[in-house]
Amino acid sequence: MKKGPVDRDASDEGGEGSPHGAADFLPTSPSLRAARAAAADCRGCGLYRRATQTVFGEGADDAEVMVVGETPGDREDVVGRPFVGPAGQLLDRALAAAAIDRKVVYVTNVVKHFKWEPRGKRRLHKRPMPREIGACLPWLHREIELVRPKVIVCLGATAGQALFGSTFSVTRERGRLLSSRFAPFVFATLHPSALLRIRESDARRTAFERFVEDLGLVRTALHGQPSP
Ligand code: URA
Ligand code: SF4
Repeated sequence: MKKGPVDRDASDEGGEGSPHGAADFLPTSPSLRAARAAAADCRGCGLYRRATQTVFGEGADDAEVMVVGETPGDREDVVGRPFVGPAGQLLDRALAAAAIDRKVVYVTNVVKHFKWEPRGKRRLHKRPMPREIGACLPWLHREIELVRPKVIVCLGATAGQALFGSTFSVTRERGRLLSSRFAPFVFATLHPSALLRIRESDARRTAFERFVEDLGLVRTALHGQPSP
């Protein structure tokens, strides 16, 4: 994903969330249901203020595959569920094309509240800042701990960097298995929003095919052995 300018608007300035981030809101009960309920009241950073609701991950609590995006978008913010807007529909098409049963997939985001700025009548998605990502990570870690997926798919730079650190490059690492403490199989690919931004239809089709090819690694992982 492209790097935007350093953003500093009023809503980004400090003092609006807990200094310890989401860690202050984690429930003691080790269940997804409890985590989801607690996240609904999270004030670990300032993003809860302008968003409609927390958009927690969704899927079976023993899902074999976890797909991690960046933040909910406009539609997800309204509906309260991850990946229900245009990017989610593209993701669903790609998973189907890669012959991955949507029922074995848990979908979530690194950051659980929609970050946006007004652009005319629209709410334009903004990339979360490192501080917001850090604040929200305890939720993703909790989801990973409880779901214990066999495969984690990082969609885009934010997800890749959240799990592998700020030097992680999707361009460099996409489509190959990475070794990680989070799951036996982890890999990264583009974010579906990046595909939606490609205007030229041939280029978009080629990019979609490559995305589906990357997702094919999920099948390899589910049927194969973890890397040493
Ligand atoms: N993009 C994401 O990264 N996550 C969503 O839930 C929707 C769009
Ligand atoms: Fe909490 Fe994450 Fe929402 Fe910030 S974005 S308030 S850390 S759930």
